[in-house]
Amino acid sequence: MAKGEKKQKGKSGRPRQGKRAPWPRDFIWGVSTSSFQIEGATQADGRGPSIWDTFCAAGRVANRDGGDVACDHYHRYPEDIALMQRLGVQAYRFSVAWPRLLPKGRGNANEPGLAFYDRLIDALLAANIEPWLCLYHWDLPQALDDQGGWTNRDSAGWFADYATLVARRYGDRVRRFTTFNEPSVFSLFGYGFGDSAPGLSGPANLLPAIHHVNLAHGAAAEVLRALVPKASIGAIHNVQPCLPSTPADAEAALDFAVYWNRAFPDPQCLGAYPERLAAAIEPYLRPGDLARICQPLDWFGLNHYSPIYAKAAPEAPLGFSFSPAPADLTRTPIQWPICPEAFRETLLEVSTRYRLPVYVLENGYGGHDTPNASGAIEDQPRIDFLKAYTGAMLSAIADGADIRGYFVWSLLDNFEWGSGYGVRFGLVYVDYPTLARTPKSSFRWYADLIKAARGRRLKRGVPARGRP
Ligand code: FCB
Repeated sequence: MAKGEKKQKGKSGRPRQGKRAPWPRDFIWGVSTSSFQIEGATQADGRGPSIWDTFCAAGRVANRDGGDVACDHYHRYPEDIALMQRLGVQAYRFSVAWPRLLPKGRGNANEPGLAFYDRLIDALLAANIEPWLCLYHWDLPQALDDQGGWTNRDSAGWFADYATLVARRYGDRVRRFTTFNEPSVFSLFGYGFGDSAPGLSGPANLLPAIHHVNLAHGAAAEVLRALVPKASIGAIHNVQPCLPSTPADAEAALDFAVYWNRAFPDPQCLGAYPERLAAAIEPYLRPGDLARICQPLDWFGLNHYSPIYAKAAPEAPLGFSFSPAPADLTRTPIQWPICPEAFRETLLEVSTRYRLPVYVLENGYGGHDTPNASGAIEDQPRIDFLKAYTGAMLSAIADGADIRGYFVWSLLDNFEWGSGYGVRFGLVYVDYPTLARTPKSSFRWYADLIKAARGRRLKRGVPARGRP
């Protein structure tokens, strides 16, 4: 969008505050998933391998879990869309598996793979649910990794070609496009620390990967804009306070924060690398790159779960590492601190810094849910979490943050990367042996919230420009 787009406000100039304050009228409620985490069918219909197939096959994931079956969404998507209809969501964010469309990453397209997303998109539209299509949620075709993956500058061109294929095929029905999901997470873990696919580490891998992913984002945004005239385009970034574990870790936390929070949104939305990173990126930068990266965007996609803690780690590949959260903080069962106030502050900060409408495209609670004796999944702690976080979001809106939508991660329990199936984020419980889906209590709570929110909405002005 549109720098300078008018910020939407309530009649009085600000949304009304208070516990019973209504949600903005055009607020979008949704759920998010990603291809590798739910689709399964990794060998079906000509799909090629991705770096995550390779990583799993090497036994690098907890319990030696892999994505071959996952939630079998590839075959069960009609049932999953029916669940979304029961929830009452207006939007569904999913990602396309690049290796399903282009088994070798480039070259000949795979028609059965393309046809799967035709079926998915058509079924969503028939259910009156808007598809939000993410081009990249971490499943890089293995054939491209064999050529250096994101460390190879050619990757920007490979990604632009893939985006062209997606735009031409689905641009008649899809309007909402996002380029990358959490580039900082997959680049740091996969190319910096080395504990996610493709398992590379150190600055010599991380720095070029950062720059080439940024170039790829810019190239894809340009293609989407040119080929889909009605497109509404954004990128998805995780932004979270990154705090020092002890006062002696202050510098390490600043380093960590620059990679985590700024390495991608700053060049993409502001046209410059943050000062702390600029000199390190310099060797990879060519004239014109920053202008190519900084394309006009319609909105900012924000993923947020909790603050993170950092410590100096001179022996680690980047000189810093994660540190456990302080013991006195309330945490989820997977030890992520619960801190809705940090969410509120992040929303205000992002909204002010990047001057774009914000969609929260991931927020949720990871645990180890199990059915009770009668088969029900009573996940009150997840409900408490979502209540607190949506409350914090409402408060940020009241304080002027331009938030346009909220998507829970995730519709279904699914393959949680390095943790495999051991961590559950779903509103719907998946019994992996049978693949049966059972809505949890939080599913009913979210359905009620959406119903109530859509029933009583705050009026706000129509945006002046852009297509948020
Ligand atoms: C985010 C990822 C998503 C999921 C959640 C829990 O970092 O984007 O795929 O794993 O965390």
